[in-house]
Amino acid sequence: MTRKLFVSTALPYANGPFHIGHIMEYIQADVWVRFQRLCGHEVIFVGADDAHGAPIMLKAEAERITPQELVGRIAAGRPRYLQGFHLGYDHWYSTDSPENTALSQDVYRRLKAAGFIYSKAVEQFFDPVKGMFLPDRYIKGECPNCHSKDQYGDACEVCSTVYSPTELINPYSTLSGVAPVLRTSDHFFFRLSDPRCTAFLKDWLDTPGRLQGQVVNKAREWLTGEGAQALADWDISREAPYFGIPIPDAPGKYFYVWLDAPIGYLAALQHYFTTGKARAAGEPRSFEEFLSAPDTEQIHFIGKDIIYFHTLFWPAMLHFAGAPYRVPSHVYVHGFITVSGEKMSKSRGTGISPLRYLEVGMNAEWLRYYIAAKLNARVEDLDFNPDDFLVRVNSDLIGKYVNIASRASNFITRHFGGELRYAPQADGFSAEARAAAKSVAEAYEGREFGRAMRDIMAVADRINQDFDARQPWVLAKDPQRRAELQQVCSQALAGFHLLSVLLAPVLPQTAERVARQLFGMDRAFRWSDATTRPGRINPYQHLMTRVDMKQLDALFDVESPGAAPAVAAAPAGAASVPATDGVLSIDDFRKVDLRVARIARAEFVEGSDKLLRLTLDLGNETRNVFAGIKAAYDPSTLTGRLTVMVANLAPRKMKFGVSEGMVLAASGGAGLYLLSPDSGATPGMRIS
Ligand code: MSP
Ligand code: ZN
Repeated sequence: MTRKLFVSTALPYANGPFHIGHIMEYIQADVWVRFQRLCGHEVIFVGADDAHGAPIMLKAEAERITPQELVGRIAAGRPRYLQGFHLGYDHWYSTDSPENTALSQDVYRRLKAAGFIYSKAVEQFFDPVKGMFLPDRYIKGECPNCHSKDQYGDACEVCSTVYSPTELINPYSTLSGVAPVLRTSDHFFFRLSDPRCTAFLKDWLDTPGRLQGQVVNKAREWLTGEGAQALADWDISREAPYFGIPIPDAPGKYFYVWLDAPIGYLAALQHYFTTGKARAAGEPRSFEEFLSAPDTEQIHFIGKDIIYFHTLFWPAMLHFAGAPYRVPSHVYVHGFITVSGEKMSKSRGTGISPLRYLEVGMNAEWLRYYIAAKLNARVEDLDFNPDDFLVRVNSDLIGKYVNIASRASNFITRHFGGELRYAPQADGFSAEARAAAKSVAEAYEGREFGRAMRDIMAVADRINQDFDARQPWVLAKDPQRRAELQQVCSQALAGFHLLSVLLAPVLPQTAERVARQLFGMDRAFRWSDATTRPGRINPYQHLMTRVDMKQLDALFDVESPGAAPAVAAAPAGAASVPATDGVLSIDDFRKVDLRVARIARAEFVEGSDKLLRLTLDLGNETRNVFAGIKAAYDPSTLTGRLTVMVANLAPRKMKFGVSEGMVLAASGGAGLYLLSPDSGATPGMRIS
C-alpha cells in the first residue's frame, strides 16, 4: 500500500541564516523522506520561514528596513543551503503569506465559535519611549534575590532565581533604557484548561506509537505534572506594534507568533497545491481533500526545545478547529547537535557555519553520513567532533564503500569489457541482500539511522573480506583462472550495488551517479533494486574524495579562509583595535582587558602540531585558551608560571574546542617568548 505522507521540519526564525542545528534537523527529515520515496511512497515535504514576532520586527527596525524586506533577504539565502546539502523539499514557504493569514484566522474563528477563546485584561510592562509592550527578554534590572545588576526579566543568570519582570528592582527597557511603566490591555486566551481540552490531550498522548516514550513522559508532566494543575490558558494575542497576523474583529491586536507558526506548515502545503506543483506531481485532490483524507499521515520533525508547542498547543488547536484540520500522526523529536562537546550559542559565535562548510569545499554527503551514523530515534544530543568526523567518513565511505567499486571494477573493465558474470552455484547473494535490505529498511523507518549505517558497514566489511580472501590480484596473473576472477569481482560489485541502494537515502547524489554512470541505468535507484544483481558496469569514475584535515582546519578557522589553524597567541600588540593611521587612542587601548594569568595547566592537543591547551587561572575564574606555542615550549615547564592574557576577546571556536582568550608572546626571527610580569603580580590583576 502506498503511504501518503505530509512531512515538515520546524520553521526557522527568519532573522538569520541557517545554523548547523537547522541543517542537522533537515538532514534527519530528508533521509527519512528519501527512504520513503525510494520505497515508492508519496511524500510532500515542506518547510517555511517563521517570519513573525517582536525580535524580527525590532531587528528590521534597527536596520531601517521593513520586516518584509528583512524576511525576504533571509529567504533569498535559503536555496543555497537546501541545494547544497541535498535537502529535497517539495516546497519552502513563509508564515508571512496570504495562505497563512487566512488559515490562522480561520482556525481562530473556529476555536472561538467552539467556546475556546476569551479575553481578559492583562497588566504588563510598557516602554513609554518605544510606545510598545515589552516581552520579558527586553526588560532588565537588579535581581530581587542576589541583587546582581542587569538581569533579564524572567530569571537571574547569577543565582538562577526565577521571577516575573515586575519583581525586578529598578527595571529598565533594553530597547530605550528608560524605566517601563505598568499598563493594562485586553488579551485573548486559548482555554487550554477547558476539561474538553485536557481530556483530549490525555487521549492524544496515550495513542500508542504516536510519539516517542520520552516525549510522552515530558508532555504528560506538563499536562498533569507536580501540582496536578491543568494547563494554564494560553495568551495568544499581542498588541500593536507587532509584526504578525491581525486578529479578526480586534483592531490593533495580532496573533502571538507561536499561534500562526505551526499553521505555517499547512500554509506551505496549501501553497504547494495552489502553485500547481501538487497536480504536476500527480496529486489529483485539492489541498483540503488531501489534508483531511484518512490515509494522509501528517508528520512533524522538530527539536527537543519546542515539544511543548507541538504536543500540546498544536494538536489542541487542530482538534478543536475541526476538519479539514486534523491532528498530527506523529511528532518526531530529535536532540541537539553540539560541536566538540560545546553547546552552540549564537551570542558566543560558536558552532560550525554550514555555509562555510560548503565554501571550503567539503562534501555535503560526508556530513549527511556522519549525522546519520550518529542519529537514533531517541531524544539524544549528538556531537560533531572533527577528528571523529574525519576517521568515520574516510574509513567507512571511502575505505569500505567506494573502494570496493574502484578495486573490483578495474579488473572487470580491463579483462571482461564491463560484463559481470556470477558463479552458477547459489552464492547466497539474494538471501543476504534480502536480509540486509529488510533490517536496514526497518532501521530507516524507525529513524534508527545509526543502526542502519552500522548494518550497512557490516555488509561492506563482509564484501571486502570475501574479495580480499579470494586474492583477485593473484587470479589476474593466471590466464587459467579468468572465470574465477570475473566471478569474484562481479560478486563484489553486486555487493557494491546493494550498498549503494542501502545508502541512497543518505548519499542521494553519489547513489544516483552510481546508478546512472556506473551501472548505466536510466533512472535513480529504487529500494527494490537492493535485491537485484547488475549485469554490467561502465569504467570506474571517481566517486568521492577523502576528508582532508586541512579542510577541517579551514572550517573552524573562521577569520582567515583557507588558512592554517588559528593560533591564539600572537605577537604583542596584535590584539589591538585596528587604527586607520597606525595610531591608537587611549580609549581604544583601554578596551583591551589585559590580565595577569597563572598557567594552571598546560597540555598537548592531540592532533595539533602547533597548539598547546592552557588552563589559565584569573583569580576568580579559569579560562581555556589554545595557544600556538607548542614549537617553543614544553608544557611541563609552563605549569605554575604567570603570563599576560587578553581577557575580553570574543570566544572563538577552534577545531579542538573553544578558546576563551589569548596569551601574549613576543616573536620574530629568533623564536617565541611568552610575556611574564615581575614577581609579586597575582592572577587577575589588570594591566594598563
Ligand atoms: N520558529 C520556531 C519553530 C516554529 S515551528 C512551527 C523555532 N525556530 S528556531 O530557528 O529556533 O529552531 C528551528 C529548529 O531548529 C527547531 O526544531 C530547533 O529545535 C532546531 N534547533 C535549534 N538548535 C539546534 C541544535 N543545536 N541542534 C539541533 N536542532 C536545533 O524554534
Ligand atoms: Zn540573582
